[in-house]
Amino acid sequence: MNKLFISCILMALILACGNNSRKESTDPMAELDGKAIYKNYCVNCHGLQGDMGAGGAANLQISALSLEERVIVITKGRNAMQPYESVLKPAQIEAVANFTLTLKENE
Ligand code: HEC
Repeated sequence: MNKLFISCILMALILACGNNSRKESTDPMAELDGKAIYKNYCVNCHGLQGDMGAGGAANLQISALSLEERVIVITKGRNAMQPYESVLKPAQIEAVANFTLTLKENE
């Protein structure tokens, strides 16, 4: 019984600490949340999974582009894809480019 009580307290402490550190880190990082940026600016054409292809949008699940190449396409645009250099900060473009790398086809 005593052991259970102590481990409960330990769990509560661990959870409390975890919550605190999460609270501190989300706010300043929010604008660098690649997934959130993607949902705001990219799903209309690329879709939530990256493979919607509206208006001829490239399928991001099978894209072979590197991170650097994606950053260039997003920054400067390409054909029907508009440039985002006046919309997003460079760090945001890198964050969203990184997110598109996670949209790989389900294995
Ligand atoms: C208006 C529709 C539209 C929106 C919005 C859009 N894209 Fe695109 N995207 C395209 C099209 C169309 C292409 C293919 C361009 C081409 O044919 O050269 C493309 C290509 C790309 C590519 C290159 C992929 C490859 O393999 O060549 C990347 C990376 C990409 N988009 C990322 C994004 C990201 C990230 C966003 C949000 C910031 C975004 N796109 C928003 C239409 C869009």
